[in-house]
Amino acid sequence: MIYVQLYISSSAPLYSSDECTFRLGELNRKTFLNCKPNMINKVDNVLKTWYSLCMGLKENIYQKLDASRGTAFSGEELAEEFGVSRAAVWKAVRTLRAEGFSIAAGTNRGYSLAPLDDNLTVSGVRKYLEDGFFLNVLPSCTSTNDEVKKLAAEGAPAWTAVLAEEQTAGRGRYARPFYSPRGAGLYISVLIRPNLPAAETLFITTSAAVAVCEAIEKIADVHAEIKWVNDVFLGGKKVCGILTEAAFNVESGGLDYAIVGIGINVTRHGFPAELEGIATSVFEDTPPADVRARLAAELLKSLKRYIEGISVRSFYEEYKRRSFVLGKRVLAVSGDFSREGVVIDLDENCFLKIRFDDGFERLLSSGEVSIRIKTGD
Ligand code: BTN
Repeated sequence: MIYVQLYISSSAPLYSSDECTFRLGELNRKTFLNCKPNMINKVDNVLKTWYSLCMGLKENIYQKLDASRGTAFSGEELAEEFGVSRAAVWKAVRTLRAEGFSIAAGTNRGYSLAPLDDNLTVSGVRKYLEDGFFLNVLPSCTSTNDEVKKLAAEGAPAWTAVLAEEQTAGRGRYARPFYSPRGAGLYISVLIRPNLPAAETLFITTSAAVAVCEAIEKIADVHAEIKWVNDVFLGGKKVCGILTEAAFNVESGGLDYAIVGIGINVTRHGFPAELEGIATSVFEDTPPADVRARLAAELLKSLKRYIEGISVRSFYEEYKRRSFVLGKRVLAVSGDFSREGVVIDLDENCFLKIRFDDGFERLLSSGEVSIRIKTGD
């Protein structure tokens, strides 16, 4: 007897969990009943059959249209290729459109995916990514951090990620709302399980900040900086916020898991007026095709590299080099207390050294104070 344990996310994209259960039943009938004596083949078959069943017609059609954007394929052609009826093709296309994909269809023209369609899909992100990530894309959710929290509770592995087209209750630090309109940003949360003492949890956020900067610079001709401790800036305005939430193991005092939630403004479509002065986006106008998928993939790759090097603080040099606050005049605020000074250093623990106006110097942690940059000084 051989047992194969598959990790199946209940919020897997492009099919519902009911469909998953149904397909798992189909998998049992098709694979286990016909299995060959060779165990390796058996396992291989299970995985292959599972994969092709899970892909589903919708994903297959999307991949076909995506591979030749702008080219039209008739319903008949697609039906024949995937062994289904034309009505089934039409239904899948209708669902893809309802999820926001720009698929043109017309009599005698067939179906084609708009060249600039930027809808997120698992296969779209995976195209730019190596194995080892468990991706989920949702059309909408309250907060991707909440979705990952549910998956973590179900025992999901490290590097499970949830991306959403929109968040209806996206949140930032201090429970501030994070504006997350449909299709305008990259809203992503990643589950990580590093072996880390609780006191070093901050380094997850600082690693993520550096990863965000590098990912943004891979897809756009900009220079990204970091405002202590969790905001990424472009041209002096916030383009990304990071919210790390963690669960600790009481016995070991270490980290059980952490959820790194990252929100990047890719465009400024529909930005509310009150954000105009303080927030910006990676692109001014219409971004190039596929940009969010590439951004997500670059971000995951870079984040993995920095998290793997977290014990030796591999983020530190880059974090310091990209600091938006070093040398700046700031107001340090802690509860009712506030005091002005100049940031003169950022140490290896990511504490800020501030020289206050009376000459007094202090190392401050992000847990103790928040800072506001003084402009015009
Ligand atoms: C901040 O600016 O204080 C942090 C903002 C973090 C926003 C991201 S978007 C993805 C993830 N889901 C959330 O609800 N928040 C984070």
